[in-house]
Amino acid sequence: MHENRTPPAPPLFTWEFAADPYPAYAWLREHAPVHRTALPSGVEAWLVTRYADARQALADQRLSKNPVHHSESAHGKGKVGIPGERSANLMTHLLNIDPPDHTRLRRLVSKAFTPGRVAQFAPRVQELTDQLIDGFAGTGEADLIHEFAFPLPIYAICDMLGVPREDQDDFRDWAGMMIRHGGGPRGGVARSVKKMRGYLTELIHRKREDLGEDLISGLIRASDHGEHLTEDEAAAMAFILLFAGFETTVNLIGNGVYALLRNPGQRERLQRALAAGDEGLLATGVEELLRYDGPVELATWRFATRDLTIGGQRIAEGDPVLVVLAAADRDPERFADPDTLDLSRRDNQHLGYGHGIHYCLGAPLARLEGQTALATLLRRLPDLRLAADPDDLRWRGGLIMRGLRTLPVEFTPEGTEHA
Ligand code: HEM
Repeated sequence: MHENRTPPAPPLFTWEFAADPYPAYAWLREHAPVHRTALPSGVEAWLVTRYADARQALADQRLSKNPVHHSESAHGKGKVGIPGERSANLMTHLLNIDPPDHTRLRRLVSKAFTPGRVAQFAPRVQELTDQLIDGFAGTGEADLIHEFAFPLPIYAICDMLGVPREDQDDFRDWAGMMIRHGGGPRGGVARSVKKMRGYLTELIHRKREDLGEDLISGLIRASDHGEHLTEDEAAAMAFILLFAGFETTVNLIGNGVYALLRNPGQRERLQRALAAGDEGLLATGVEELLRYDGPVELATWRFATRDLTIGGQRIAEGDPVLVVLAAADRDPERFADPDTLDLSRRDNQHLGYGHGIHYCLGAPLARLEGQTALATLLRRLPDLRLAADPDDLRWRGGLIMRGLRTLPVEFTPEGTEHA
């Protein structure tokens, strides 16, 4: 009799896995919580899937963010991290460095990118959201990724940085290239990264001559004990704000709307609360959407700087470690009924924004955009529904991010009577 035999490990990184990775993650959490695997790029890495191990690994200073610690870095060059960042001289950004450099740069950027600056930006996010919805509200149908979730964060962060409006469509094109090719050939992404780098360097030069109230001027002005960001550091910082804040927010809106459309009871609750002027459920709801199907499936690369143990598994110096946020946030040891979407979940210390010193710097902006986007969509298009069979929807194949390629919806056109 073999009833107790462990079922075979599920395949990872296939199209089926991309559509629904959660059963495979449940298997890993139970049978191989710290699991070595070959990634589609050929690089071997450890996947950490339990909540307690994930939280500990995210804060473990023996895990470096600097790819020089990768044992394969000599021949694996360019296979870890953002395509093109090396050739575009953009390596010194927050997600690639450790203390004390990280501490210094994070302190400087935090002086410019403050929660107060984000709060002041709320009316502009609302205006952008309404303008984008105006573009399709009268038609009765839309692809919410292309027409809404994709442009909103790119225009928002460009505005915040101080990119002039007439140049923002270039950013939209470069960002589009990144998102389209995120899981595929790296050449197109690398070219877009170089173009952004060139543009940002020039913009920083111009702003230096004529400082304004925007975030790039804030980055140039920020000083700590007489220290300032160098031009290279300011360019890398502006770039990482764009890069880290763009596809993540696209997916918060895309995955979030999709989860609401698939859970009509929860969506109705939220619509009733919004109609009654109660924004409390919107706030807890966006956190729950981040836990339930968050934009960042795997945290960014970490490398063991010495031999160490995570969850009882020995990891050798130089090995890459990837913390699977999506698996940790569905761990039944931490969350009651983890596969159920509960917008009013209270005890919800999810890892969707990471943990420790690299905790998401843009979380206040992401919350503002996510809450504004979802609330405005549901208010203006109250009978929004999916216009495709969920089995026909395709998810992007990239390693770090989780998001839909398209999200076709239909609704009663604005201005006509609802049935
Ligand atoms: C819903 C949207 C977002 C999610 C889910 C998200 C998630 C994350 C996560 C998980 C990390 C940590 C990665 C790691 O430790 O490996 C991170 C870091 C970061 N995020 Fe976000 N993010 C979002 C939006 C934004 C926005 C809008 C911005 C800025 C405009 C931003 C800027 C950053 C930066 C600069 C870091 C690096 C911080 C550091 O290393 O000290 N993020 N984010």
